[in-house]
Amino acid sequence: MDLVCHEAPEWAQLQVHFQAFKEGFDLQQAFGADPQRLEKLSQQAPYVFADLSKNWLLENTEALLAQLGHARKVHALRDSMLAGQAINTSEGRGAMHWLLRTPQDGGLLRENKVVQAWPADMRQALGDVHSTLNAMLQLAEQLRADSRITDVVNIGIGGSHLGPEVVVQALEDWVDTGKQFHFVSNVDGHELGHVLRKVRPESTLFLIASKSFTTAETMLNAHSAREWFLANGGSDSAEDACNIDRHFVALTTNTEAAAAFGISRTLGFWDWVGGRFSLWSAIGLPIAIAIGATQFRRLLQGAHAMDAHFFTAPDAQNLPMRLGLLDVWNRNFCGFSSRCIAPYSHGLRRLTAYLQQLEMESNGKRVTRHGHKLEVPTCAVVWGEPGTNGQHAFFQMLHQGPDVIPVEFIALRDGGKYLGAHHQSLVINAIAQAQALMVGRHGEGVERDCPGNRPSTFLLLQSLDPASLGALIALYEHRVFVSGAVWGINSFDQWGVELGKKLAQELRVCQQTDDWRGVDPSTVSLMQRLAESPVNG
Ligand code: F6P
Repeated sequence: MDLVCHEAPEWAQLQVHFQAFKEGFDLQQAFGADPQRLEKLSQQAPYVFADLSKNWLLENTEALLAQLGHARKVHALRDSMLAGQAINTSEGRGAMHWLLRTPQDGGLLRENKVVQAWPADMRQALGDVHSTLNAMLQLAEQLRADSRITDVVNIGIGGSHLGPEVVVQALEDWVDTGKQFHFVSNVDGHELGHVLRKVRPESTLFLIASKSFTTAETMLNAHSAREWFLANGGSDSAEDACNIDRHFVALTTNTEAAAAFGISRTLGFWDWVGGRFSLWSAIGLPIAIAIGATQFRRLLQGAHAMDAHFFTAPDAQNLPMRLGLLDVWNRNFCGFSSRCIAPYSHGLRRLTAYLQQLEMESNGKRVTRHGHKLEVPTCAVVWGEPGTNGQHAFFQMLHQGPDVIPVEFIALRDGGKYLGAHHQSLVINAIAQAQALMVGRHGEGVERDCPGNRPSTFLLLQSLDPASLGALIALYEHRVFVSGAVWGINSFDQWGVELGKKLAQELRVCQQTDDWRGVDPSTVSLMQRLAESPVNG
């Protein structure tokens, strides 16, 4: 029987190793003792340079972590993922989002002889991926050329929202259609209402993005959008120019439900694409409309380069592997319960929200994929805001608060097309913050002193272009896979989310029937309070 992670001898070895840190580890001294520290603890991966040297790592820490990775069979699970096996055990599905960015001939995976070992069904799946991709990009180009469409409204939530939103925002300088993009996710009617106030049926394209096509929020928003469309001059008859067929497209694996909703144009994908990994699939249509087919393919290319790196590079030079293991080190051995993401890029302002779903929905679990309860913490809380804004808000706590919170800086060498002088200031601020966290301030009085020795990681991209962004997102996907594999959890399901959905549905029924039997008194009281007169009334 498989051991749980904390029963592995390699885990105990790392606990012993951590004693050296308790006895006193200081980042500045570590740099003083080894001028090569940055070179040793940094790496250029495809499109992403990563400096890990300001983490609490001794020279042999990563090697010990790699041993833990081997003992936890991370490589075997990676090979299973690559062979298309059903590693999402609770749902009996593969996790093959990486196949969505694999070139038709296997690309770098072919060069590395990975593809040659594939069974026929994997080749078939790759063929299907490419026919759907080609159809999607063709549709995207048609829509881009359609000057009657001025507004694209994406209705979806979770993975059917965050990925497309973060990419369209990040690649704003590459958006060349002259169309406006709107992303509606919340069931709060104000979000859709504010968008509908600005658009007109005859010039708006609605994309209903939902893997399941059953998610309550998305369905309610989609129905409201359709009602608004019909009430404002749109039609459900194909004979009229402004009709649903032309103005609604569904992006889903549930083509029957989309047809039942009344949408005839549907782009499909497969159950082996997890929602939070789906921006590379038909869910990416808003991205493709925004940046065009050529740049969408560049996004896939960058991600594929990172895939090939993850699947083939040796551990010591495998960035997703190193970062995934570092996350385990920080969480379980150093005891850091959260990680702050600080993108020094306005384009990446929603990256943290995207990563919150990617990391916490994947690894926020306490039971292994074999049903054993873990006695150690798993996923850290991921939070943050773009720099420099964060510096004037929560960075105070990072520098002087009692908790040590590792920070992940993300910066760009090339700042893009606007106001180059600002970019210098932006990047210098990021580096200065990493420096301040490490060196601290001493001897200026107890209130002013900062302890320093606070860890950080620095990720640097050449620029915020499609390929670099693709590589960055794929890096995070694989990193989450690695830490999940070490903990032994299934990173591809999300049963915890289902409970809230089910209870909300049950409460709606209770409210309609006014029958509260079986509902706990606290919830009943709150529901009654909701129905009463206003709190201040
Ligand atoms: O939050 C749960 C979840 O199932 C996510 O995993 C998913 O991305 C989101 O809801 C939306 O689901 P769907 O794309 O099926 O509407």
